[in-house]
Amino acid sequence: MPSSDPRFPNLRVFDHALIHHKLTLLRDATTTAEDFRALLNEIAGLMVFELSRSFPTRPRTVQTPLESFTGRVLAQPVTLAPILRAGLGMTDGILRVLPEARVGHIGIQRDEASRRPVNYYTRFPTDIADGPVLVVDPMLATGGSAEHAIDHLKRLGCRDLQMVCLVAAPEGVQRLLDRHPEVPVFTAALDRQLDENAYIRPGLGDAGDRIFGTVGA
Ligand code: PRP
Ligand code: URA
Repeated sequence: MPSSDPRFPNLRVFDHALIHHKLTLLRDATTTAEDFRALLNEIAGLMVFELSRSFPTRPRTVQTPLESFTGRVLAQPVTLAPILRAGLGMTDGILRVLPEARVGHIGIQRDEASRRPVNYYTRFPTDIADGPVLVVDPMLATGGSAEHAIDHLKRLGCRDLQMVCLVAAPEGVQRLLDRHPEVPVFTAALDRQLDENAYIRPGLGDAGDRIFGTVGA
């Protein structure tokens, strides 16, 4: 079960031996892009398995080979909203546990000079507001990209929003608490702070570059 932090009522930090194990390997600068992608997807799947525990369900009657049975199925369509690029690195792992989910995309790049988010692409299902939306991005640093994505999704009418990240900085969690206090933030780790380049410390470096093998490009 995720644990909470008294400073941040919006935050849930996953405290699970497998997640600690995989995240430590992810932080290791010697981990290859291939292993990085695999570990990131595995953690994302584990997190969403747990956080989807309370998704609404409704009854459905099916015919087993022997008799009629009334079980429960998900009541609403679920949409993943990975923030490009790095959010794509978690999407396959989530789809492995939630193959019914649709995937919308929002392209946001952090301008490295101003540190402000720049939105370059969006495409979402037209009925996205009919069910839960998981905003997916491994890094919550200043929180600018996540805030921008959530603003956009709220303008589309989405009300059941959850932020799913891997590593969060206190500054980013505080920003979402200030701007979108009702949106829960699920993370595998709450790190110490941002550095002067707005990178998360200790962090894991540039997630997008490590996923896609573009370090130094
Ligand atoms: C990274 C990361 C987040 C953002 C976090 O993306 O994946 O989207 O920075 O920073 P913030 O909380 O300060 O906004 P980046 O802009 O490097 O783009 P990329 O995913 O294409 O690498
Ligand atoms: N984006 C990243 O990929 N890493 C950070 O530490 C901060 C923003």
